[in-house]
Amino acid sequence: PVMDTLAGRQERERKLAQKLGIANCTIVPGDSTAANGSLGGMAEAAKQVLMDQLPSGASTVAVMGGHTLATVASVLTPSLATNRELLFVPARGGIGESPDIQANAVSAQMAQRTNSKFRSLFVPEQLNTATYKSLFAEPAIHEVLQLINESNVVLHGIGQARTMAERRNMSPQVIGDLTAAHAVGEAFGFFFDATGHVVSKFPRIGIGIADLANKPLVIAVAGGAEKGTAIAAYMHLAPAQTWLITDDGAADIVLKK
Ligand code: BG6
Repeated sequence: PVMDTLAGRQERERKLAQKLGIANCTIVPGDSTAANGSLGGMAEAAKQVLMDQLPSGASTVAVMGGHTLATVASVLTPSLATNRELLFVPARGGIGESPDIQANAVSAQMAQRTNSKFRSLFVPEQLNTATYKSLFAEPAIHEVLQLINESNVVLHGIGQARTMAERRNMSPQVIGDLTAAHAVGEAFGFFFDATGHVVSKFPRIGIGIADLANKPLVIAVAGGAEKGTAIAAYMHLAPAQTWLITDDGAADIVLKK
């Protein structure tokens, strides 16, 4: 088909970026959430964007968790760290996920695969204010939080509200509240509706969406037709410099809206 030429794809990427109000989009073929779909194409594209866009010299890269980001980690190679000194940190603490796809695990794997450094942040999910304050004051935690704050690169996924609420074992009552508030998407632990209005957030430690504004390189990796609505919704909140790496499955949904 005509659209499958390189020029056609680039034109579609431009249209998508324009529609979403962000700097750049990369669209890979396929639908990663379809039965026969794979996250591999987006992971390779993310690796290429990192190769091209990471500045030379020192960078602190803050990463979120999820299957998509774990797949990105699995394709990285030491060449990414040629002429670069990379430090990987989790972007946020305490987001309940299975161990292998937690932000800590993804950041450690990215470091291992690129022969780079990493720092972990061990903070539990549910914290009352007093515990939060004393953990924050703890020097070892404070130091990692400072590194996270100083990060110049952020890599993150985007999820569907319901899927992420269930994955994080939120209570039926909280899930009910999210549904009543028409939450469609989730990123960085924030749930939002289709217009990008944040309908709930839970106190957590680390980078929030508002902190992205001063990060020179922000890369979102999310695809699949079933994530189309969540991706479009998040882009109302995303900083303008965001580079979205997605697939035809999601791009078709967004461009039809
Ligand atoms: C989670 C992040 O680890 O992964 C979420 O905390 C993100 O913010 C989600 O939405 C994406 O997961 P997946 O498995 O769809 O890549």
